[in-house]
Amino acid sequence: MRSYKAKMVEPIRLISREEREAALDEAGYNAFNLDARDVYIDLLTDSGTGTMSADQWAAMIRGDEAYAGSESFHRLADSVSDVMGFDYVIPTHQGRGAENVLYGTLLEEGDVVPNNSHFDTTRAHVVNQGAEPIDCPSPAARDPDSTDPFKGNFDLDAGWALVEEVGEDAIPVVVLTITNNSVAGQPVSMENIEAVAEFATEIDALFVIDACRFAENAHFIKEREPGYEDVSIADIAREQFAHADAITMSGKKDALVNIGGFAAMRDETLYEHAKQRAILYEGFPTYGGLSGRDIDAMAVGLREAVTPPYVEERVEQVAELGDLLSERDVPVYLPTGGHAVYLDASEIFPHIPKDQFPGQELVCALYLEGGVRGVELGGFAFPGTDRPDLVRLALPRRTYSYEHLEHIAETAASVLDNAEEYSGLEIVEEPPMKELRHFSAKLEPVSE
Ligand code: F0G
Repeated sequence: MRSYKAKMVEPIRLISREEREAALDEAGYNAFNLDARDVYIDLLTDSGTGTMSADQWAAMIRGDEAYAGSESFHRLADSVSDVMGFDYVIPTHQGRGAENVLYGTLLEEGDVVPNNSHFDTTRAHVVNQGAEPIDCPSPAARDPDSTDPFKGNFDLDAGWALVEEVGEDAIPVVVLTITNNSVAGQPVSMENIEAVAEFATEIDALFVIDACRFAENAHFIKEREPGYEDVSIADIAREQFAHADAITMSGKKDALVNIGGFAAMRDETLYEHAKQRAILYEGFPTYGGLSGRDIDAMAVGLREAVTPPYVEERVEQVAELGDLLSERDVPVYLPTGGHAVYLDASEIFPHIPKDQFPGQELVCALYLEGGVRGVELGGFAFPGTDRPDLVRLALPRRTYSYEHLEHIAETAASVLDNAEEYSGLEIVEEPPMKELRHFSAKLEPVSE
């Protein structure tokens, strides 16, 4: 059951197979280059693609467009304080703007940054400061058969091994990404959040949470961590942040907006420093590249994210898609994560070697078979790592219906039936920064 109904609709269409073939060829076998109008069901991302509530739209009318000190800013600051517990907030145009502001303030050439898993823009921002991003995912993340309820956790043994290797002075910041997007949207336990906070304190590093999907993470803690069954989502959400020094937030996820983000912190000195960088890259620190109306929508969305039954329905819909796929024998990463279902391309295409990008081939196949657009988060998106070749089907929030989920599952089943028809891809054109190659590289099918 859903606790909302549609008030506005947007047409979508499934173009013919021939048209999809032509569109994919034109896009250089890279789904980022497809026009949205040629996509039937768009699961490229859950970022900024969701449906806002009537309250959020109403709040937009109230937006105060003052350059400095707007009412909208104060409403956002109140929401961040109430929902997340931070006193200082710097709005930014989106999550990566917050990463630029915070990591540009905190990092220097030669620093090392451990994270349970860096998302691609986070990794790129750390690299951009001359620092080195190191992933420390839980060993359970690598085991598709593991039933560990918190596969998103930070591996503290890996963290301590890193301290041993580079020395604690090289690590000014420890980051925890909740949920862990690069590890199939898996959650991080409260126990792990506390342990990582302690680790950061012991090595005298700042503890930063990448908070994009904090409400989804809180839901999993409530469902899976002993002792939290009767604690409200709002209380769990706040407790998650209680030990963090600062956060980066993409409002396009769990603040339920189409654009926006912010950095927030406890320390006034850090706030003053970060503000200077915000002025340079984002705008005056009370609007940060956003209009007042965008900020108001985010202020309301943050509160909605922790108000039942929003997040429970959200995560259940993702699980529902996972079930529909599993019923059709499509190999999915289990348990399903908070915002997306991840398909295992190497199982669907066992005949395609890793250097011919089975994941990217699966993205293309899903589009050809059913006009469904997903995204590769394996060897193509993360070059030089030995990540499993997963394809992410991210569900926009409050957007698609059960019938759409059925179409997605039927499409994946049909790819599985025709798996031998797909033979892998090679890169023919790529941008200079390899951390960003999956956004614009062009590929073509390998010749027989
Ligand atoms: N951190 C995480 C964990 C993310 O998933 C994202 C964005 C960002 C930071 C950056 O935020 O897009 O607002 O600048 N993830 C999107 C995705 C793009 O598709 O997963 P942003």
